[in-house]
Amino acid sequence: MEKIVIEGGTKLKGEVKISGAKNSALPIMAASILSSGESIISNTPHVRDVITMGNLLARLGIGFNIQNGRAALNNSSISSVEAPYDLVKTMRASVLVLGPLLARMGEAAVSLPGGCAIGARPINLHIMGLKKMGAEITLSHGYIRVRAKQLRGATIYFDVPTVTGTENMMMAAVLADGVTVIENAACEPEIIDLAVALISMGADISGAGSNIIRIKGVSSLNPLDYSIIPDRIETGTFIAAAGITRGDIRIRSCNPGHLKAVIDKMNEAGLKITYENNILNVKGPERPEHVDIKTMYYPGFPTDMQAQFMALMSVSGGTSLITENIFENRFMHVAELKRMGADIKVEGSTATVRGASALKGAPVMATDLRASASLVLAGLAAEGTTVVDRIYHLDRGYEKIEEKLKQLGAQIKRTG
Ligand code: EPZ
Repeated sequence: MEKIVIEGGTKLKGEVKISGAKNSALPIMAASILSSGESIISNTPHVRDVITMGNLLARLGIGFNIQNGRAALNNSSISSVEAPYDLVKTMRASVLVLGPLLARMGEAAVSLPGGCAIGARPINLHIMGLKKMGAEITLSHGYIRVRAKQLRGATIYFDVPTVTGTENMMMAAVLADGVTVIENAACEPEIIDLAVALISMGADISGAGSNIIRIKGVSSLNPLDYSIIPDRIETGTFIAAAGITRGDIRIRSCNPGHLKAVIDKMNEAGLKITYENNILNVKGPERPEHVDIKTMYYPGFPTDMQAQFMALMSVSGGTSLITENIFENRFMHVAELKRMGADIKVEGSTATVRGASALKGAPVMATDLRASASLVLAGLAAEGTTVVDRIYHLDRGYEKIEEKLKQLGAQIKRTG
């Protein structure tokens, strides 16, 4: 099995280019179900989850190929409305085909996504919303089966601002009869990106980016020709990489505006960050300051940056409190960081991190996508050799991360 081997201690220097956003690419690829013809999606990251979504769409009868960030999805005719267990179990975001399939084909069968390393992650709100729009829903043999001759507009209030729930409702509502209003909608930049992509197909959407989104159904949509926004979580990960290695790097093709909460906390930790347009300059401190964070829905501090920030705080000059408010089991990286000499104590949803003067390289195991990124960051700062196992987690959401880090001077390689 492939591993990543890191010799720590190098100050990162130079320039890195950010890829397109994984969490935008997945819903926008699913949106290709909504129109017939060939959809082109540019700046698509070549990561494992994108390939999984492509394979899922291919199972539905949509031709898929990706080259140099250009994904082509040829939807001449959909031959199946079933998202099978073998694919859904590898990627929960497969649930994103539910809304568009129901809207376009009047039915869909999607395997229920089982448990996940970071939390229970139910999809009850997705189901509640589709029911409100008139869908008949049955659960049988591990599959959700949904049917509706014609979806109709409805007002949907979400108990929590679910990201993929909001995206599924938007894609169901664009071809519905009448107006749908989503209240307490998610406001993440990826929601806006999907809305802009759908509007470019001919949809009638307003309010994306706020917690009230209004969608007026139309009779048909055109294929996509769209370019994805930069990945704000990959950007945040590289900011942390500069911070934990006393580095001095330039991050280009990113969008600093999508990272305000992260940049604020990194500045508090002593990083020197300047930016202009789509370029960020980051200078790491001799030793990071200790800073407390609480993960929140956008525009709060993203849960997808919690693990990376914890790695940074594990070498800070004091004690920081890290509270995870979104997922109930997102501290799987703690035990692995402690194997490298980090001093972390977890009580409920808060981790108390006492900064260590240095981390020590060790063999560690990735448990989920962002946890694996935090182990790579810790390895970059640690004395000696770190070997990260199960890096298929990392490849789900980072495009060639070890090559990008090597470009910045890191002593890192992939083996196996
Ligand atoms: C999206 O997941 C992202 N994935 C996640 O990124 C990210 O961590 C998460 O949003 C939060 O920002 C994609 O966009 C593909 P949610 P999603 O529904 O949509 C509860 C990464 O690392 N909830 O917004 O699945 C849920 O349990 C991944 O790139 C319900 O209770 O997350 C959680 O506590 C990991 N019922 C909260 O809402 C529902 O029906 C937020 O989850 C839906 C969600």
